[in-house]
Amino acid sequence: MKFDKNFYWGGAIAANQAEGAWNKDGRGMARTDVTTGGSVNTPRMVTFMDKDGHKQKAPNRGFKLPEGAHYAVFDDELYPNHDGIDFYHHYKEDIALFKEMGFKMFRLSISWSRIYPTGEEEQPNQAGLDFYRRVFTELRNQGIEPLVSIWHFDTPLALEEKYGDWQDRRYIDLYEKYVRTIFTEYKGLVKYWLTFNEINNTINFLPDDASDEAHQEAYQHLHYQFVASARAVKIGHDIDPENKIGCMICGITYYPSTCDPKDILFNRSKWEKGIFYCGDVQCKGKYPTFAKRLWKEHHIELDVTDQDLEDLKQGTVDMYTFSYYMSQAVTTHHNDDVVGGNMSFGVRNEYLTYSDWGWALDPDGLQYYLEMIYDRYEKPLMVVENGLGAYDTVEEDGRIHDPFRIDYYRRHIQAMAKAIENGVDLIAYTTWGCIDLVSAGTGEMRKRYGFIYVDKHDDGTGTMKRMKKDSFYWYKKVIASQGEDLDD
Ligand code: BG6
Repeated sequence: MKFDKNFYWGGAIAANQAEGAWNKDGRGMARTDVTTGGSVNTPRMVTFMDKDGHKQKAPNRGFKLPEGAHYAVFDDELYPNHDGIDFYHHYKEDIALFKEMGFKMFRLSISWSRIYPTGEEEQPNQAGLDFYRRVFTELRNQGIEPLVSIWHFDTPLALEEKYGDWQDRRYIDLYEKYVRTIFTEYKGLVKYWLTFNEINNTINFLPDDASDEAHQEAYQHLHYQFVASARAVKIGHDIDPENKIGCMICGITYYPSTCDPKDILFNRSKWEKGIFYCGDVQCKGKYPTFAKRLWKEHHIELDVTDQDLEDLKQGTVDMYTFSYYMSQAVTTHHNDDVVGGNMSFGVRNEYLTYSDWGWALDPDGLQYYLEMIYDRYEKPLMVVENGLGAYDTVEEDGRIHDPFRIDYYRRHIQAMAKAIENGVDLIAYTTWGCIDLVSAGTGEMRKRYGFIYVDKHDDGTGTMKRMKKDSFYWYKKVIASQGEDLDD
């Protein structure tokens, strides 16, 4: 057996993409509540009132609230995250389906604004705490280990309006209050935690030609999140020494697209800036040597205190976790054949095929990533997101045939098996969107990832009925055979 009997097979979702119930039981708003749906070619938009009281909207990516404006929900817009897939009311049914597949682990996130609606209350929102207690208890009753993301892109909107997007040191204390609350509340119920989902997105997806000012903001934002994460690790261990707390990196395997030495160097800088910068700080507790070069390139001067450096040292993570969807080919040469990706772009790699959303399908890249990262940090690894966003069709008999998804998973599981054979300590695999949910990038429902289909559509219609796809039965067999039986 390549996969240990204790290997955590499972699936993953995030609060804002699944829960719905956006304004129920005292929950405060998050950015996704003022973000419309989009598509592969049309951006998601943020809605707000300008300083003169006029309704406005602007592309979500890189949006900054103008002076005097405030976020707003408009009656004539559709906000897909408001309903999500209504996991808030369906969690028992969904967990029963996960159990039927044989899940050992389920990754979900806590919505910060369910616990502290504006982020600044003295006391947490009891109804929010109760909701997650019910979910975690249900998971435990079903023998499924929860893996909890503390932050999955959902800072309370009130904080964003007041302080901007993590550009303010006060965020560290506010996050600390939030994590203390949840570590204390769920002691004994939750053992595995992740501090920030895809923390590296902030600099990884910053265009190389972005201004020095944009770089300054991104690196400062990250520094505050590093300190907040490190403090969370320390607090989490103090509250319960059983806690295992990980970083979460958006894993992309970068390849130079030519053997021009300039491309080789460029590719290395992609790994450094995009992947290693965050992993090194969170796993080793200090900034890597190349950080100085990166800062110098953009004349960055960070607000870093001695206490921050001490916190980073004290708060190294117990495990390295990451999402993996694709590799990306990069070059310094002019090349118009650009392909999309997980909030980023590269050039076409002629050796690979691409999903309908332009994401490179590359299981070998997963093996490469696993082996490279394990060698660098020698900490247990978890693949906490991996999956294929694709169109699904419900046949007249109600069945959903998704051989393309089965094939995708089969090849990625084979890649993980090879990495394990080569010595990598991989302990978990939680596939992304194990149940269909709202896409983070495009806000679509039709970009479906699940083993479980949810009858919910981009125009807001749908009964929310859950239906098993062919991949549901296949994954069940995979888990039952500990990853040995990968046949259709
Ligand atoms: C990751 C995020 O970036 O990719 C998820 O952590 C997201 O929240 C996933 O859903 C897939 O991206 P998308 O845009 O297809 O939803």
